Amino acid sequence: MTDARYPGGALVEARGWGWRYGSRRRPAVAGLDLRIEPGERVLLLGASGAGKSTVLHGLAGVLGDAQDGEEEGRLLIDGRRPVDARGRVGLVLQDPDAQVMLARVGDDIAFGCENLGVARDEIWRRVDAAIEAVGLDLPRSHPTSALSGGQKQRLALAGVVAMRPGLILLDEPTANLDPDGVAEVRDAVARVAADTGATLVVIEHRVAVWADLVDRVVVLGPGTEGAGSSPTERRRRSSTVTRRR
Ligand SMILES: Nc1ncnc2c1ncn2[C@@H]1O[C@H](COP(=O)(O)OP(=O)(O)OP(=O)(O)O)[C@@H](O)[C@H]1O
Ligand SMILES: [Mg+2]
Repeated sequence: MTDARYPGGALVEARGWGWRYGSRRRPAVAGLDLRIEPGERVLLLGASGAGKSTVLHGLAGVLGDAQDGEEEGRLLIDGRRPVDARGRVGLVLQDPDAQVMLARVGDDIAFGCENLGVARDEIWRRVDAAIEAVGLDLPRSHPTSALSGGQKQRLALAGVVAMRPGLILLDEPTANLDPDGVAEVRDAVARVAADTGATLVVIEHRVAVWADLVDRVVVLGPGTEGAGSSPTERRRRSSTVTRRR
């Protein structure tokens, strides 16, 4: 059962969406049309450079933060622009070390909630629930420097969960981990998806890791000038899909 404390999954839409980095002549993504239903779990595949990370950064509302760029079409989360839906979206990246912000587990998980202006007592309730949801089994005071790669990725995921997201984005979250770490993170994501009912988009080259968890695979084609990015899709057999709302 989905936990009633979570707001439910977000609807994700791309309508002719594209992005060209200001330093590039050709767009990284062009003409992307895609609809992801609330609570749906999607594995995003595509060759290196196809624009997968660009799409996730667009959905997270962080494109253009660091540099100029040119957008086309629309990217919408529950009908709103990603920059207006930031508290609703959480992004976990590939590098475990780059995402640890603070010295203690509890403070690190609380960081995003503090930025959202969540009340103090509520933050700590959310932190404890998030620690449990990702299976960290550590006290809030535990030093983040002592964590394994798999634990650091689960810490990052806990920080996202604590913000009560409707959309969880994972950009190759297990790429830098050993097999034990891969399994830990995968299991944590499965549990979080079930608990929160959040819409999930995961980029990962190793399909087998996520095959049982996702409802749908979207393959992003190369973004070439004029031609447009072309997602092709493969649905899992409906008998194997477990949907929890
Ligand atoms: N910050 C940036 N500035 C300029 N160009 C960029 C930037 N980030 C990505 N690109 C370019 O945009 C295109 C799409 O890159 P993106 O990182 O989205 O692809 P990807 O599918 O995630 O690839 P990978 O599987 O290697 O992670 C590539 O041509 C890449 O070189
Ligand atoms: Mg990428």
